[in-house]
Amino acid sequence: MFFNQKKADAPSLEEIQSIVRDASLNHIAFIMDGNGRWANRKGLPREAGHGVGVKTFKKTVTRCRDFGISTVTTYAFSTENWKRPKVEVREIMRLLDEYIKEARDDNEKNRIRYIFLGDKERLGPELLEKCEFLEELTKDNPLTLNVALNYGGRDEIVRCVNRLIAEGRTEITEEDISNGLYTKESPDPDLIVRTGGEFRLSNFLLWQSQYSELYFTDCLWPDFDEEELVRAIMEFSQRKRRFGGV
Ligand code: FPP
Repeated sequence: MFFNQKKADAPSLEEIQSIVRDASLNHIAFIMDGNGRWANRKGLPREAGHGVGVKTFKKTVTRCRDFGISTVTTYAFSTENWKRPKVEVREIMRLLDEYIKEARDDNEKNRIRYIFLGDKERLGPELLEKCEFLEELTKDNPLTLNVALNYGGRDEIVRCVNRLIAEGRTEITEEDISNGLYTKESPDPDLIVRTGGEFRLSNFLLWQSQYSELYFTDCLWPDFDEEELVRAIMEFSQRKRRFGGV
């Protein structure tokens, strides 16, 4: 049942579910870093790392659901990622296209609600239409999966504020902003996991991460398995979340 061989002292599924419940881990977000390095270390082109990264992502989402986490968010492509070599951008877009097709085909089995965060217009009319179709098709499913695509945290806030200005607002509240972001249907993330050994948010969920717990690991994303996921959850469950109180 585990991705890899289950270790004798690993917690059982029921134990993890109970840890997730007791720690109120409702929303987990992933910055899937390290695909390029993983591939290079194996003498493969960077794009090959993204291909394995998608497989890792699918397994991770399944496990999150098994553990009882109701919202998962991932950073698939940032507003800055267009600066990457054309061949790499093309391959990420191809993988996304393939992923969306599979998600559509597996809808009855997976029961995942897909929401794409970001400015989808720039993805082109075809991919845009596929994203919108999937969002509509899956809108009543119980597990929410936010896929950040052409997403930037600052861009998201600026767009929201400009929309409020266009509506004629002269004063706004925090709630107005929270309700105007791409993530308006999700609670703020409880835990943000970044793989690949970097210690930053890279323009991801800047507003929403106000009180998120951050977890960093050197593990490169394609190697992120169930054991790594459980380690992150266990550490999260030990954190004292005070939300600014005492
Ligand atoms: C970061 O690793 C990864 C990305 C910027 C792209 C991730 C995209 C995918 C896995 C494909 C599409 C996703 C889905 C959910 C279908 P990096 O390449 O920056 O790694 P490096 O730091 O080793 O170079």
